[in-house]
Amino acid sequence: MSTIDSVLQENRLFPPSEDFRIKANVSGMEGYNALCEKANNDYEGFWAELARDLISWKKPFQKVLNESNAPFFKWFEDGELNISYNCLDRHLDARGDKTAIIFEADDGTSKHVTYRQLHTQVCQFANALKAQGIKKGDRVVIYMPHSVEAVVAMQACARIGAIHSVVFGGFSAGALRDRIQDAAATLVITANEGVRGGKPVPLKAVVDEALGLEGSESIKHVIVYRRADHDNVAFKPGRDLWWHELTQNQPAQCEPEWTNAEDPLFILYTSGSTGKPKGIQHSIGGYLLGALVSMKWVFDYREGDVYWCTADVGWITGHSYVCYGPLAIGATQVVFEGVPTYPDASRFWSMIAKHKVTTFYTAPTAIRSLIKLGADLPKQHDLSSLRILGTVGEPINPEAWIWYYEVVGGSRCPIVDTWWQTETGANMIAPLPGAVATKPGSCTLPLPGIMADIVDEAGAPVDPGKGGALVIKRPWPSMVRTIWNDAERFKKTYFPEEFNGKLYLAGDSAHFDENGYIWIMGRIDDVLNVSGHRLGTMEIESALVANPLVAEAAVVGKPHEIKGEAVVAFVVLKQARPEGEEAKRIAKELREWVAHEIGKIAQPDEIRFGDNLPKTRSGKIMRRLLRVIAKGEEITQDVSTLENPAILDQLRHSAL
Ligand code: PRX
Repeated sequence: MSTIDSVLQENRLFPPSEDFRIKANVSGMEGYNALCEKANNDYEGFWAELARDLISWKKPFQKVLNESNAPFFKWFEDGELNISYNCLDRHLDARGDKTAIIFEADDGTSKHVTYRQLHTQVCQFANALKAQGIKKGDRVVIYMPHSVEAVVAMQACARIGAIHSVVFGGFSAGALRDRIQDAAATLVITANEGVRGGKPVPLKAVVDEALGLEGSESIKHVIVYRRADHDNVAFKPGRDLWWHELTQNQPAQCEPEWTNAEDPLFILYTSGSTGKPKGIQHSIGGYLLGALVSMKWVFDYREGDVYWCTADVGWITGHSYVCYGPLAIGATQVVFEGVPTYPDASRFWSMIAKHKVTTFYTAPTAIRSLIKLGADLPKQHDLSSLRILGTVGEPINPEAWIWYYEVVGGSRCPIVDTWWQTETGANMIAPLPGAVATKPGSCTLPLPGIMADIVDEAGAPVDPGKGGALVIKRPWPSMVRTIWNDAERFKKTYFPEEFNGKLYLAGDSAHFDENGYIWIMGRIDDVLNVSGHRLGTMEIESALVANPLVAEAAVVGKPHEIKGEAVVAFVVLKQARPEGEEAKRIAKELREWVAHEIGKIAQPDEIRFGDNLPKTRSGKIMRRLLRVIAKGEEITQDVSTLENPAILDQLRHSAL
């Protein structure tokens, strides 16, 4: 058991209050079961009805699901729509003056942007993109601070049918270049500088560095939003353009490009088992449906809600629950530029009070760190506006869950622990808050229409209490369509031969409990989940061995109280194993190196130098032993196949 697992054995069920249940969009288990039954009886009819109800189509679809080229599934393939139209235009008559976004800047100032204003900004920016020659199908990289403008940039791409690829502002120049290159993007949208926690984030400088690297030659223009009030960034004439200059004379209307439901909406890169991040490709119609359905069912959206998802637009959560879901359903949402700990650890709580947030969605890591920094702080703020709390990205330990429930939610607000992935596009397993009783640490039951199961190696369902692989047995509308440029890898990774190519393999292990609830246990591949961010161990290893000092490296995870998992790197240098001050200096250098190669989020928390790594006689690194050493546990496994057993002792005593 990891340290974030329970000292608290919490098996209580927390059913919704009577009042909550009655008002909920899906009310009681009767409501939940009725939807599940509908999906079971007529799977396509179930999704078709939702798609007709929730989405505004330019040309209604006749075909629902096409499985003829499995696993390259198509949904609503003869339908036409525009997602930006669905997020903006269709609200203008009834909600034009309603606040779409309450933007709170790092320094605490805030502004309200109405649906009409957002529509104008998106149209003007879309026209500016067109003026730069961007057209349907072109790839546009967005490397922006979390801001209204980031949402505008994404929506504007979607409006003209361009495919956006958002790169989180914490990624390095190298990571940015890799993503530009893989997608052969022609334009980058960035800001002169971001600001987080009072500190500048040099976005444009990183773009300049990325564009100086080999492989990014496809980029013709860089549009720079002037977030920081200065012009002192390098500007390359002809290539670099100011956002405000490009948009100021653009018309406030831009006819949406009527796209096919199956046209790609975006690419978002995520880590997998091998070194190279995968470009997860989503399509327009099905993805929009997933975002809308979950806003309605999981977040129980109702008019008057103030929704706040704290994720950055650089991640899938920021795509589905900042840029698309809340706008598509016509919500008022908070977009927060800063960090939860600045100027102090009550920032989230004071913002909930200030903006009267009803629905608050964040990551367990944030909750755990805020408990540590001030478990009583929420009590100093009026959090009575809250009615639903959510978590995402990693398992939440029962202690943190109970604190979130009692101290933040006043024992009044259901917690929706939402399991899903970049690949699934939208929430998949989560309690519908007016129906499913919650249980601390479990993401509970699949959404109606999501055919989740847990299977053994042969693909047979496992008994309750037994671990297995989490799979989805039927295609669902918001699923990944392919990996950009790598259809083979898509098939191999998600629909492996071992299950006859029939089951979507999520990459997580899980088990059912006695209530039939699902508990996520962790990844089954070489992927770490650090603060809710997915990191491939191979990616970090490749970065380390690219350093001239390093001969060999192996990266594993170990449980971490706040981050969920921490990165531990075992490193063999080309020179003799360093000790004392020298070891410290090289460890620091390697951490900085990884930050520069990938981004700060991938920096090893711990580095251990050895003369070698534990290997079998055939030269295979024994990672399971490394995991045991990283945890600081005694090695009880058989080490007889080990070539060099003495190395274990050395690695055990070398943590830096
Ligand atoms: O391991 C699961 C974990 O995060 C992975 C997906 O990561 P990513 O694509 O970056 O998307 C994160 C945000 C949706 C999953 O394979 N994960 C996600 N949500 C949960 C979770 N683990 C446990 N409980 C969750 N609620």
